Amino acid sequence: MLQEGNDKKNSLCKSSLKEKLIVALDLNDIDEVREFLNKVGDNVKILKVGMRLFTKYGPKFIKELKEKGYEIFLDMKYHDIPNTVMTACKEAAMLGIKMMTIHAIGGSSMCKAAVEGASVGAKISGNSVPIILGVTVLTSMDEEALKEVGVENTVEDEVLNLAKMVVENGATGIVCSPLEVKKLKSSIKKEFVAITPGIRLENDSKDDQKRVATPESAILDGADFLVMGRSIYKASDPKSVLNKIYGN
Ligand code: C5P
Repeated sequence: MLQEGNDKKNSLCKSSLKEKLIVALDLNDIDEVREFLNKVGDNVKILKVGMRLFTKYGPKFIKELKEKGYEIFLDMKYHDIPNTVMTACKEAAMLGIKMMTIHAIGGSSMCKAAVEGASVGAKISGNSVPIILGVTVLTSMDEEALKEVGVENTVEDEVLNLAKMVVENGATGIVCSPLEVKKLKSSIKKEFVAITPGIRLENDSKDDQKRVATPESAILDGADFLVMGRSIYKASDPKSVLNKIYGN
């Protein structure tokens, strides 16, 4: 009976995985990106562009990806004084992106300014307001690293503090580890979108990720979107990996 329930849940979550999967384009250059996109076509809907490729190619790159039909997660992790972040978020929203990141450590004023900037940019350009995602504690930081920057909290407490703070100040989402998502969803009363990197299929290499989960378990724990990079773009046949993820 329990097994039957779990099977049903698993097939339900697999059926919508294509809508929830974000592929991180952590590639070297635009030629590698084009080659990858030729292989996967419309089997991927959302692409994450990070600071490397955005710094290299700028808004023209976003435009090219959008013209190919993809939705964009712009992962620049903005962190500066509120006015500077507000104007950057306004420009980002004018690109017509689906979601973007700010560092929660920038505080409540910076978070409010980011949300305001994104709303203004969306209004001026006629685009939808992007989901503003707060990045809490980087997964590369442990308690020792937090101490170095003057934070005495445990990683877990600091993640919850920062997540609560940004959601209370208008951020519509959080980037978190798949192992944190259940606790955040139950502890934060306001609704928010949870996005989890650190996703691996069973038997995949973990690479440098320390705390990983499978797509199904992240979704069952409350993740709304999953970020996957190397397991997909490094595969010799990425389409077959995607089919495995989608349960085809
Ligand atoms: O290749 P892999 O699947 O590990 O890629 C995960 C992606 O998610 C990378 O782009 C990485 O920068 C990003 N990310 C992460 N952990 C965070 C925030 C972002 O792995 N806490």
